[in-house]
Amino acid sequence: MKDVLEDFRVSEAPYWRETGDEITLFTAAWDARIPVMLKGPTGCGKTRFVEHMAWKLGRPLVTVACNEDMTASDLIGRYLLDVDGTRWQDGPLTFAARHGAICYLDEVVEARQDTTVAIHPLTDDRRVLPLEKKGELLKAHDDFLIVISYNPGYQSLMKDLKQSTKQRFGAMDFTWPGPDVEAEIVAHEAGVDADTAQRLVEIGARSRNLKGHGLDEGVSTRMLIHAGRLIKGGIAPKAACSMALVHSITDDPDMRDALDAAVSTWF
Ligand SMILES: Nc1ncnc2c1ncn2[C@@H]1O[C@H](COP(=O)(O)OP(=O)(O)OP(=O)(O)O)[C@@H](O)[C@H]1O
Ligand SMILES: [Mg+2]
Repeated sequence: MKDVLEDFRVSEAPYWRETGDEITLFTAAWDARIPVMLKGPTGCGKTRFVEHMAWKLGRPLVTVACNEDMTASDLIGRYLLDVDGTRWQDGPLTFAARHGAICYLDEVVEARQDTTVAIHPLTDDRRVLPLEKKGELLKAHDDFLIVISYNPGYQSLMKDLKQSTKQRFGAMDFTWPGPDVEAEIVAHEAGVDADTAQRLVEIGARSRNLKGHGLDEGVSTRMLIHAGRLIKGGIAPKAACSMALVHSITDDPDMRDALDAAVSTWF
């Protein structure tokens, strides 16, 4: 019989550089089946961490990119019409709950609140999912867990999780790793030497000081990796930083000047 989870298994270890006790904490939450909320700015490693943990725990990973057009049916499932009549199709949440996968709801605040409440019965002691249209009360598999992510600070007051949603989760805050660790990550992911990685990380640190002073957000680890990959591909460091860091993060000429100056200090 075909393994329905085959496509969702994480076969190779996704690289993760431990920065604190995140692996211990996530594992403890998993053992206790406490749903986990990962918070942190864009490009800080939330998705990579979930992939790594799914691999480490040997669980398949079902990822859902949430958006405001998403309905509860998109998560739960619906009847489809085909030549033989109607056929029920599990949505990703139901699929994960039925078969015992980790269900990762990325950017969960983007979903409307009436969609988000669909996860409530799965994220408390009940661990069930009522499939009302189908007349089924699905009991979640023992190995099912919900993980959600969001970027605090990007949301307006209108777009936040309800307390009744938040309070169902254990939360982990992700921030930028220390400079040596971040340089190690950039060197590993971009394939650049340690010295180049260190310089990129210094530029990143300068940009993060400009957060709230003209920049909405500092340069992320992801952007530093992009710059590193361009350099690795033969692009001169200044041009690589200009493309991967400066021009993508801001259109403001003064901010660009400030960032270009930081780039020139290090390259
Ligand atoms: N501790 C770490 N170990 C390994 N890689 C890391 C680590 N932290 C960050 N990264 C790297 O940063 C990149 C961006 O991380 P990721 O895509 O997981 O960010 P994210 O927090 O999910 O961002 P978004 O909120 O935009 O989805 C990854 O490709 C990964 O290479
Ligand atoms: Mg992500």
